[in-house]
Amino acid sequence: MTTIRLVQGDITRQSVDAVVNAANSSLLGGGGVDGAIHRRGGPEILDECRALRASRYGKGLPTGQAVATAAGKLDARWVIHTVGPVWQGGRGDPSLLASCHREALRVADELGARTVAFPAISTGVYGWPLEDAARIAVETVRETPTDVEEVRFVLFDDRAYEAFARQLG
Ligand code: APR
Repeated sequence: MTTIRLVQGDITRQSVDAVVNAANSSLLGGGGVDGAIHRRGGPEILDECRALRASRYGKGLPTGQAVATAAGKLDARWVIHTVGPVWQGGRGDPSLLASCHREALRVADELGARTVAFPAISTGVYGWPLEDAARIAVETVRETPTDVEEVRFVLFDDRAYEAFARQLG
C-alpha cells in the first residue's frame, strides 16, 4: 500500500531513495526543478545524463518516459528524470503526464526505491494548470501498482500545495 504525502518545500532537500526530476528531453539541464537538482546534486548527475544521451537516448528522452541516474550530492540514491508534456493551450496530451508518474514508479521499482519524491511535473515552464496536473498525478499514483511505500509530492509554493491537497480530499 503506497502512502501519498504532501510537503511544501524544495525537492532537492528531501531525504528519499529517489527524487523525480521534471526534465526536458535533452537531459542536459534547464531551469526550475531541473536546474535546482543539477545545481545541488553536482556534475555527477549531468555526467550520467550525457552518457545516456551518448547511448540509449541518442535522440533524447521522449515525453512521458523516465530514466534513472545517480543523485550526486543530493540526500537520495537516485534521480529519476522524466519529461512532462507541454500544456500548449490545452493541446498537450494528458496521458503523457500520467505516463511520467507511471514510468517513474516503474523505474523506482526496478531500482528497489521505497520512497520517491515527485515535483508538480509540467506545472512550471511547461504551463500545465495546477488543478489538472494535481488530479492526474494523484490519480495515476493511486491506480499504479508499485512496491514504493511513500510517494511524496514536494510542492514549491502554497498554491501548488493547495491544489494537491484538494486532490487528496
Ligand atoms: N522544488 C520543488 N518544486 C520546484 C522547485 C524545487 N526546487 N523548483 C521549481 N519547482 C516547481 C515549480 O514551481 C513548478 O510547480 O516545480 C514545478 C515544475 O516546474 P518546472 O521545474 O518548470 O518543470 P516543468 O513545468 O515540467 O518544465 C520543464 O523546465 O526547467 C526546465 O529543463 C526543464 O525544460 C524543462 C522544463
